[in-house]
Amino acid sequence: MDIYCVMGNPIEHSKSPWIHTRFAELEGQTLHYGRRLVPIHGFAAEVQSFFAQGGRGCNITVPFKFEAAALANQASQRVTLAMAANILSLQDGKLLADNTDGTGLVNDIECNAGVELKGRNLLLIGAGGAAAGVLGPLLLARPASITVANRTLPKASALVARHAALAAQQGVELRAQSSQSLASSFDVLINATASSLTGGAIPVPDCTLKSGALAYDMMYGNAARGFMNWAQAHGAQARDGLGMLVEQAAEAFMIWRGVRPPARQVLAELRLLMP
Ligand code: ATR
Repeated sequence: MDIYCVMGNPIEHSKSPWIHTRFAELEGQTLHYGRRLVPIHGFAAEVQSFFAQGGRGCNITVPFKFEAAALANQASQRVTLAMAANILSLQDGKLLADNTDGTGLVNDIECNAGVELKGRNLLLIGAGGAAAGVLGPLLLARPASITVANRTLPKASALVARHAALAAQQGVELRAQSSQSLASSFDVLINATASSLTGGAIPVPDCTLKSGALAYDMMYGNAARGFMNWAQAHGAQARDGLGMLVEQAAEAFMIWRGVRPPARQVLAELRLLMP
């Protein structure tokens, strides 16, 4: 049987085994998808042991996405830009890295939430790993502009500099700004900060929101609630990151199994299971 897994620390909460097992059921495929708790300093050894035991592919989650990108023999363009990977696969003895987070986000916004990004003004909040993982695919969706806002401006500037060539190629105005200095509103806001996890306040001023905007938090469950409540209180459409989770998994399944599973159906089923 083909074996897959998700690796991270912590990992108990991961919904990836459920999602991939459901994809396989719906596609009539036989595979086993498990979870592996990886010691903080033991990532490379765990990857080696998984593939030595016949593993076909693994998803990588916090905090190993940067290490996964660095470990690979070959990386996709989206990994090179993000400097982070959420998938490792073994092909002809080579470890291949890819990153499906950004495509998952774009698919969830455009296909599931029904909001087209082309020509819109986007605010990406945060400049850590989560933001880095999605900026490339957001540029490929050809919005009019993307402002990357962060509490610490130099991190946003570095992320923007790394994506400047792609932005120019796509005709997207890409800029970095400190979150505190934001003074205009946006069509789509994407929260990629960890502020809710650290008990922080909403990471951008109220003026960034306008009625009818889409405010998207890449987290889900309790972690997304504060940002979503704030957005709704200002007349915006709020969405959590559960759809992104399912869509990034669907993209991984497509890469590994060659078929696109019914992500929308699986998202609806997963929502019913959520508290
Ligand atoms: P992740 O992989 O989840 O992105 P990370 O790389 O540590 O984690 O990045 C965390 C992001 O959340 C950063 O953009 C961070 O801002 P700084 O670069 O200024 O540290 C942001 N963040 C974390 N706590 C925050 C808070 N309380 N308010 C605003 N931004 C916060």
